[in-house]
Amino acid sequence: MALCAAEALAERGRAVLFDVLEYGRPVRAFALRFDGRVVAYLNRCAHVPVEMDWNPGEFLDADREFIVCAIHGAQYHPATGRCAGGPCRGGRLRGLNVVEQAGQVHWYPSRDIRPAPAAGPSPADPPTPPPTPS
Ligand code: FES
Repeated sequence: MALCAAEALAERGRAVLFDVLEYGRPVRAFALRFDGRVVAYLNRCAHVPVEMDWNPGEFLDADREFIVCAIHGAQYHPATGRCAGGPCRGGRLRGLNVVEQAGQVHWYPSRDIRPAPAAGPSPADPPTPPPTPS
C-alpha cells in the first residue's frame, strides 16, 4: 500500500499518520524516519491503549531520541518499538512492515492488520438533496 513520498519523512521529524484495521477494528498508525530508516507502528501505547502523539504526528521527545507517549511519558526505542522507560515496562509498540523504494514509502498489510477503507460517503449517510430551482 502506498503510504507517502520518501521525502515526506524527514530524519527524526514529524510522522505520517494513516488508518488501518487491526482485527477489523480501526486503529491509527504512524511512520517516521529514524537513523535513516523508515519505521511504522500502531499509534497505541503499551501502557494504556491510547494514541500517543502530543500533537498530530509528533511522537519524539525533545532530544529526538525516543518515541514518547504524551499521556504518562512512556518511552520507546524508535528503531525497535521496545519500551525504553516509564510505565510501558516490558511492552513494545506493534510494528508494521514498511519498505522505502524508488522515492516512495509503502506498508504491507498482514493477516491481522489490513488497510482501512478509503474515506467517503457510507451507505448510512443521508442522500444529498437535489438542488432547488431558482
Ligand atoms: S498511556 Fe502511554 S504512558 Fe500511560
